[in-house]
Amino acid sequence: MIVVWRITQHCNLSCPFCSFDRTRDVPRVEADLATVLNFGAVLAAYQHETDDRVLVSWIGGEPLLWRHWQEATRRLVGELGLRVSATTNGTALESGNVRAFVVDHFSELTVSVDALGTQHDVLRGWSGGFAALERIVPALARLKRERGAGPLLRINAVLMRDNLAGFAALCQRVAEWGVQEISFNQLGGRDRPEYFPSHRLRPEDVAEFAARLPELRASLAERGVRLVGGDGYLERMRASAAGEARAVPDCRPGQTFLFIDEQGRTAPCNYTAEQIGVPLSELGTTEAMQWLPARLATARKRCRPAACEDCHSTQVWEKFAR
Ligand SMILES: C[S@@+](CC[C@H](N)C(=O)[O-])C[C@H]1O[C@@H](n2cnc3c(N)ncnc32)[C@H](O)[C@@H]1O
Repeated sequence: MIVVWRITQHCNLSCPFCSFDRTRDVPRVEADLATVLNFGAVLAAYQHETDDRVLVSWIGGEPLLWRHWQEATRRLVGELGLRVSATTNGTALESGNVRAFVVDHFSELTVSVDALGTQHDVLRGWSGGFAALERIVPALARLKRERGAGPLLRINAVLMRDNLAGFAALCQRVAEWGVQEISFNQLGGRDRPEYFPSHRLRPEDVAEFAARLPELRASLAERGVRLVGGDGYLERMRASAAGEARAVPDCRPGQTFLFIDEQGRTAPCNYTAEQIGVPLSELGTTEAMQWLPARLATARKRCRPAACEDCHSTQVWEKFAR
């Protein structure tokens, strides 16, 4: 079971494509530590009783800005025996202590890198950001080698018209950083509708990308780096670029994946928490957890969220297929 937990809506960067861009004047909510620890204990009991291994993945906003992320991680991993990962912009990893903490506690770490050099800096609103990541990520990989253990290191890029041509060169560059995986997602339009039209991928962009992907994948594999993403994922990209909706009749909600928002609502994905989210306070036992898929499926049938008529939930579309 993968549990993606959005623990904060705060962010320190200003990506023009992202809804959590720090320059936006929007309310910012954070998770509460006690709620995270309580549900961590429920997940640990669920893991113990079902043998279904749980990976809790912090997301945001910028998750490494949440003031409790280290304490929560330490308790979930050290006391409860869960695995933890995060998706981060990498800014917090400039600190050697933070890198050491991550290497000692995390099972996976995804760092966002969208382009080479100043193009990444501009896309993220972080001057010198690419150069910093080029120090930080190899330093993590070195520490992992020294310790003989540490998280799977993954780079994720958001693909848009602006950076697509440079994606292959980006992959070859980050392959030098000691990462194991590269993943990607196409620019989505729900976060910043004003940014989307002039940056979104067009059908010809996706066709060219898909045609070049096998060769890029093979060349990275020779260097020991996996470029993940299945055929269904490319098909989702093609459909989005063509403006075609892709409904998902049954995403098997809550069976292998759960999303939790900063307010403590659990749902099949981040697009459905508002309408059919179940409060964590109603999930105190393994039995309640085992009933959750049926409960979410019923809620989804009764009040089908508009987002399900055109599902953009990446894990449903084999983003991480190897
Ligand atoms: C909201 S961010 C939060 C984590 C962290 N702050 C980061 O930058 O990785 C989660 C992921 O969504 C991606 N993302 C943000 N806005 C997006 C958009 N409009 N379309 C597609 N992906 C987006 C980010 O690049 C990152 O991989």
